[in-house]
Amino acid sequence: MLLGATVVVLDDLSTGSEHNISHWLCNPKFMLIHGDTMLIDPDAVVAKHRPTHVFHLASPASPPHYQRDPVRTLMCNVQGTLNMLTLARSCSARFLLASTSEVYGDPEQHPQLESYNGSVNTFGPRACYDEGKRCAETLVYEHVRLYGMFTSTLRIFNTFGPRMQPDDGRVVSNFIVQAIRGEPLRVYGVGVQTRSFQFVHDLVDAMLIALVFREEPVDGPVNIGCPEERTIDDFASIVKGTLGRPDLGVVHEQAAIDDPQRRRPDITKARQLLGWQPKWSLDDGLAETVDYFLLRNASVKPKE
Ligand SMILES: NC(=O)c1ccc[n+]([C@@H]2O[C@H](COP(=O)([O-])OP(=O)(O)OC[C@H]3O[C@@H](n4cnc5c(N)ncnc54)[C@H](O)[C@@H]3O)[C@@H](O)[C@H]2O)c1
Repeated sequence: MLLGATVVVLDDLSTGSEHNISHWLCNPKFMLIHGDTMLIDPDAVVAKHRPTHVFHLASPASPPHYQRDPVRTLMCNVQGTLNMLTLARSCSARFLLASTSEVYGDPEQHPQLESYNGSVNTFGPRACYDEGKRCAETLVYEHVRLYGMFTSTLRIFNTFGPRMQPDDGRVVSNFIVQAIRGEPLRVYGVGVQTRSFQFVHDLVDAMLIALVFREEPVDGPVNIGCPEERTIDDFASIVKGTLGRPDLGVVHEQAAIDDPQRRRPDITKARQLLGWQPKWSLDDGLAETVDYFLLRNASVKPKE
């Protein structure tokens, strides 16, 4: 458990799963509130729980999930973030926003530095998420200016690990599930677009350092990701190798609209101010994730 603390999770389970936290549910220091950040009454939560730290991660995050109900996605990041900030402010809790590398859109600067203001298409199919997170950042920094809150905004780059949903729709789980099924790996576009993959344990470390262990808040958002960049075609080969299936093919399908072509964080700020850098290699993180999916083999098999 988190440093002996009591943990209260607020989740509407719209993309998450209670199964993922089932091993915590009988722990008296853990509680799940099944609720929506957009609808919750912050005063009621404060009266009952008086949190000291609020980690705000609630948002659909994979393109198939966030594009299913785009207006809801946008409002989740605007109204949901405002509610969580109100909650944190009214009990003087520290507040962390899980922002995203998507605030950089399809970047013209490479690697991406926090000072880069991004290149987001405001009316494309990814805008509901990208603009929602940009607005969430604005809400955070207005609360810092207005109320002097202790906040931390992490711009998270592609992160993966065990307990991802097989139907999550992001490239890591897609490739692993396709390879376990013995299907060709499906790449959207020509496969030269790049991503930088970070293992989830490194992200959790960064969150704890940024919100719990620091005496002073960091000024402005911080990139959290792995600075090693791979093309999607290379990543397909790595996944096939990890699963011992080099025989599987790769099919290239139509590219997604506004898909970022290059993605790599500059993590100088995280190194200097948080003393953080990723410790997990892609190979080790992938091996642990593949093991998890293999254990769930039944649920990733194609339906008869
Ligand atoms: N995984 C990544 O690569 C990545 C990268 C950048 C940012 N992030 C951010 O990190 C956070 C977690 O992402 P994830 O990858 O674990 O995705 P996820 O879908 O596994 O987790 C999101 C969680 O939020 C919950 N949720 C969604 N809308 C909600 C609402 N209105 N009220 C309450 N709960 C709600 C979902 O049920 C789910 O449990 C998200 O805010 C995402 O934008 C993730």
